[in-house]
Amino acid sequence: MKEAMQRLREASIRAILESNDTEDLESLRVKYLGKKGELTAILRQMGKLSAEERPAMGQLANQLRSDIEESIERRCAELSEAMLAMKLEREAVDVTMPGREPQLGHKHPMYNVLDQIKDIFIGMGFEIVDGPEVELADYNFTKLNIDEGHPSREWTDTFYFTEDSRILLRTQTSPMQIHAMEAKELPIRMIAPGRVYRKDEVDATHSPMFHQIEGMVIDKGVTMADLKATLNLVVEKIYGKGTVTRFRPHHFPFTEPSCEMDIQCHKCGGKGCPTCKGEGWIEVLGAGMVHPKVLAGCGIDPDVYSGWAFGMGLERLAMGEYKITDLRLIFENDVRFLEQF
Ligand code: DAH
Repeated sequence: MKEAMQRLREASIRAILESNDTEDLESLRVKYLGKKGELTAILRQMGKLSAEERPAMGQLANQLRSDIEESIERRCAELSEAMLAMKLEREAVDVTMPGREPQLGHKHPMYNVLDQIKDIFIGMGFEIVDGPEVELADYNFTKLNIDEGHPSREWTDTFYFTEDSRILLRTQTSPMQIHAMEAKELPIRMIAPGRVYRKDEVDATHSPMFHQIEGMVIDKGVTMADLKATLNLVVEKIYGKGTVTRFRPHHFPFTEPSCEMDIQCHKCGGKGCPTCKGEGWIEVLGAGMVHPKVLAGCGIDPDVYSGWAFGMGLERLAMGEYKITDLRLIFENDVRFLEQF
């Protein structure tokens, strides 16, 4: 029996020292010390010993048990120490490595132009307002005096959400005129920049989504002279003092009279060049005096109040200012493009 315990001691200590992970050690513990383990099997033989031999053997067995336990524990501690060391080495940070430079984004050139325009209007006492892109046909068309049969209401031109043509993606920022007149105290001076949507194929000058800026003034005694003076001032702030404008008669359902404003080409001074496509003039915006029917529809008495309004395309303005020749560049947001501004 003594020999059996000696063999168990040698075999178990060797196995424990050779084991390389803690799960292994646990199965060794079961193998040697468990209820069905090898030490227990040896102890079962105790019955065969004489009463004198038993205490000495019992002592030996207890010693063996605690020695095996101790070596398991020691090996276990060694292994977890080694694992920690390995982990620390793997996760070590080399503080002498050069850092990665953070990539900063770039302000979009179109928003530079928008900010400039906002500043100009804020300086003249205008308020900046924001409104829904999902709009009721009532606001996008009807209240703007655009009749049922008008071509811009066609399903081929406008993104509708409902079969009854009641809800749509706004095709212009002009519904913001109605929202302002219905919600605000008079007088009103506001501009409303934002996205608009039309069913256009993408090409160098078209996109199904683009931006407009709407502007409107409603007060007592407002005339076409205010419209012209204000817009001339804005144009001079954008394109420089002395920039020449011209107002051509036009038609919009929600203004009467209506006009389009051109600026004389700032590149060639009106002689005609590639920038103005040989015209000498560049079309900038549509404008007019708010139609009395539109005022009345918003509960404003056209005999007491009058107003003027304008709408202009923001992309076109930015393209002119930064000499961008393809509208698609504005929306692709390629950093190599944006970095140039
Ligand atoms: N909403 C018009 C368009 O998209 C532009 C416009 C013209 C707006 C005349 C106005 C205006 O406010 O008075 O073509």
